[in-house]
Amino acid sequence: MDVCKGERRLFDEMQMGSLVAWNRFVRAATYEGAADAAGRITPEIMRIYRELARGGVGTIITSFAYVRDDGYHPAHMMGLDRDELVPAWRELVACVHEAGAAIVAQIAYCGAGAGKGPFAAPALGASDGTSPDGTRAVRAMTRADMDAMAADFAAAARRAQEAGCDGVEIHGAHGYLLSQFLNPVWNHREDAYGGPIEHRMRFPLEVARAVREAVGAAFPVLVKINSSDGVEGGMTEDESLVVSEALAAYVDAIEVSGTTYGKVKIAGPGGQHGLYASYAAKLAGRVGIPVILTGGNRLCAEMQELLDTTGITGFGLARPLASEPDLIARWERDASYEPRCVSCSRCFPAAGTNCVLDR
Ligand SMILES: Cc1cc2nc3c(=O)[nH]c(=O)nc-3n(C[C@H](O)[C@H](O)[C@H](O)COP(=O)(O)O)c2cc1C
Ligand code: SF4
Repeated sequence: MDVCKGERRLFDEMQMGSLVAWNRFVRAATYEGAADAAGRITPEIMRIYRELARGGVGTIITSFAYVRDDGYHPAHMMGLDRDELVPAWRELVACVHEAGAAIVAQIAYCGAGAGKGPFAAPALGASDGTSPDGTRAVRAMTRADMDAMAADFAAAARRAQEAGCDGVEIHGAHGYLLSQFLNPVWNHREDAYGGPIEHRMRFPLEVARAVREAVGAAFPVLVKINSSDGVEGGMTEDESLVVSEALAAYVDAIEVSGTTYGKVKIAGPGGQHGLYASYAAKLAGRVGIPVILTGGNRLCAEMQELLDTTGITGFGLARPLASEPDLIARWERDASYEPRCVSCSRCFPAAGTNCVLDR
């Protein structure tokens, strides 16, 4: 079945800055819990990414990789916090490229979004408090902390570039550090980094600028952002639009997501599709860079409809690809294929698979 009515098709090439992917499908970052205890890439990670790349997705965004080890969460997350990790990342990149996909490294500091993990010291955050799960103290960042953190993001991005990644994505969503600055529930600062959205977005912008300066103008930089925090008192859609428009000065594409760690489920109730489509459509009309919609993308016909009627450029999928890594190849053969993922949100890494249907 051909679901395409307009000029843009799901299997068109998609460009984000200098990155050209062979289709508009993106594997949205999905934590695999398969790195070793020191954040190193393992054969299991290589297997997962090879399978995804062979399965037809145009661009793979890696699971979040920590930019410093006290931002580590949860166990067996990948790291990009030190140079010794670069050679193994290079092998991962080669394996993905060999199978025809592009790979973008997602970089993060989990901060108050993290539980206690192995750390005694408080996590760094926008304001003093405790992590959402109540297990770890959080200390408000000083100016010096912010400079050091921006430098850590920049260094991690440079490592991704050295490893041959096709781009880097700054994790600005889901209640982790940068998203925390944006969210008034977590950000109670009374200095130039708290209060109105123009202040709350200051630190995320500083990180984006530092990353851009570290990798140069030609290297693709993406950012993942909440369309809203989805919680009472959190960042609103209108505020998020202000943030995204400002970030567009530093990045080549914006991935739209939603939800806040510890407050709401990773994505909406089972069966709800195109979760943040109206925000993404609005944003696409305002910024001159690609907007990738992630969250509840399940049917080609629905994504094609969005291509036909909005300026959205690409579609991120996490759970459906955790369940069927070859989903995109299936869709290439038959666009009416319905993925088996039922959006139950019971995914958690176990024995090399995230999907409960495989256990
Ligand atoms: C098991 C699991 C792990 C995830 N890990 C990450 C991550 O590392 N970074 C991130 O930005 N989002 C992460 N997400 C969120 C997804 O990227 C995505 O935004 C969300 O699942 C909605 O998309 P979907 O409906 O296609 O699953 C994860 C989601 C799941 C289910
Ligand atoms: S566990 Fe549920 S939501 Fe996750 S991939 Fe499997 S079916 Fe989909």
